[in-house]
Amino acid sequence: MAGGRFPQAWLDELRERADIVQVVSRYVQLNSKGGRYWGLCPFHGEKTASFSVNPQRQMYYCFGCHAGGSAINFVMEMEHLEFKDAVKLLAEQVHMELPEMVGGYEDAASKTEKERIYEANRQCARFFHSQLWKQENEQVLAYLYNRGLDDQTIRMFGLGSTPPRSDEATQAMRSLGFTDDELVRAGISVRREGRVYDMFRQRAIFPIIDAQGRVLGFGGRALGDVKPKYLNTGDTPVFNKRLGVFAANLLKKQRGLKRVILVEGYMDVIALTQAGLPGVCATLGTALTIEQARMLKRYAPEIWVSYDGDAAGQHAILRALEIFDQEGIRARVLDFPGGMDPDDFIREYGAQGLESLEPMDATSYRMKQEMGNHDLSTQEGRTAYAIACAKHLAKVKEPVELENYVSQLMISTGFTRDVLLAQIGRTEMIAKEKRSTYRHAARPLEEKNEGVSLGAAQAEKQLLRLLAEGHLEPGTVTAEDFITQERREFAEKLLAGMSPGAILEEIADEDRRARAASVLSSESGASREDELRMAGDCLRILHYVRIDEKIAALKQEAAGQKGEDKRKTLMKIQELTKDRQKAGRKE
Ligand code: UTP
Ligand code: MN
Repeated sequence: MAGGRFPQAWLDELRERADIVQVVSRYVQLNSKGGRYWGLCPFHGEKTASFSVNPQRQMYYCFGCHAGGSAINFVMEMEHLEFKDAVKLLAEQVHMELPEMVGGYEDAASKTEKERIYEANRQCARFFHSQLWKQENEQVLAYLYNRGLDDQTIRMFGLGSTPPRSDEATQAMRSLGFTDDELVRAGISVRREGRVYDMFRQRAIFPIIDAQGRVLGFGGRALGDVKPKYLNTGDTPVFNKRLGVFAANLLKKQRGLKRVILVEGYMDVIALTQAGLPGVCATLGTALTIEQARMLKRYAPEIWVSYDGDAAGQHAILRALEIFDQEGIRARVLDFPGGMDPDDFIREYGAQGLESLEPMDATSYRMKQEMGNHDLSTQEGRTAYAIACAKHLAKVKEPVELENYVSQLMISTGFTRDVLLAQIGRTEMIAKEKRSTYRHAARPLEEKNEGVSLGAAQAEKQLLRLLAEGHLEPGTVTAEDFITQERREFAEKLLAGMSPGAILEEIADEDRRARAASVLSSESGASREDELRMAGDCLRILHYVRIDEKIAALKQEAAGQKGEDKRKTLMKIQELTKDRQKAGRKE
């Protein structure tokens, strides 16, 4: 990944030129109404348009699911791209040249080196693929057929074969103009005692392709019982197996996935895909990383973990669930019976068999694993089991969900509901509103007023809205008028001329962005005059709140004082109280 950031001024120009209405129109049919554009939200299913685009504010906002942001955010969501890549795509579309990055560096030399490696990999993948159809490599094709793959699948994944002789791939790449150094750095060739050979020998080749269609490296499957079973490209300037997943290129093409199925192996991905399942990908022989989890989250609202049914696989599932939890990603587990892997399973039972498997939610899966760890035929075992499950259940926030698990646990352990709830630490079962982790569903917006009163929060929001609309005379409102930190910062940015879209873009957290988008997108619908009056009212409310805060602080102070000090403090309180009354209104 390139270092550095895009210069802010350049990003401003990009947003300006790209024009959010045009950008969104490529994906959503928009109709103009009342200064905004409306369409069906592409992020959650709906029949009436609640998705709005505001060209003045350079932002979009959905009143149903509260997705909101700038044109760049929109492209990130739709194309499943990281910020930088979304920017690059937009820049290309409006013919803007990429700027010098600020605050980081990627010199031209390392950039061209990467480009060369991508190109070498691409050519090499083509070379391996063409080898597959040659008589002299027929045992490789036979191997793939034997594993149940058809020609269409082989083409779809660009599978290949190594050539018969030990330096043929290297030779072929040289003849295309690549130097030995480049080939070694790409991991296509290895240097041994001064000579350069092919890295992959006598193997079926699985190219690893990223979401942008670039070949990052290869996995090579031994045809027989040779170790290692899979040989993979090591870390290179373009490949880090902790960051990518196998079949990212296919994920990218499948819009509106309901779930991603995450498996362990190359062959699992290929077999499930051939069976017609969309959205399958695999980590590359490592445990799931946070980076991969975040990347997968872009593709679907839910991930189904379908690792091998052996002990190692089961352990890896628990680890993966933890990572998904940490990242607030909904995950389920597809558990295979009898130590099978997904490839074995689909070959035995077909896609129908797979569809008949119930994916388990994370908590059920954890409880099931705990059951395997304890002997439920003894009281001791049941007690230990209940304690272990209670730890998992303490994380379940929804009372109704918790209720289901608790009922199950009552049956398997014999403890009463009250005892179990006490063990879980939820005696009251207060129905706190939990933030939904579905991104693609209409949901209520969770309000946060950051400790100020509702009236003050409303006043601040109103002011922000007026600022976003650009209807306030300069100097009417200043950032200092805001009491809460976050909204003060928004005000500062709006006053400095940043568009609401650009402000939203800086907020990585989705819930925070949703809340901000809701404020920055709203309109008063009032006349200019009324708006000015409203601004005045809001400022007055915030003024009172400040006085009230001061009074409260002084009262506290007075409580700890005596004599003259106390008298002075009480005087101050009295003055402030008068001020407040003089201003004549209570909020
Ligand atoms: P598995 O051992 O489960 O292999 O490793 P598999 O996918 O079932 O392979 P087949 O079906 O026997 O061909 C799962 C994944 O771990 C990585 C590969 O990515 C593999 O797909 N792995 C495994 C390696 O990188 N090297 C190895 O030697 C073995
Ligand atoms: Mn397998």
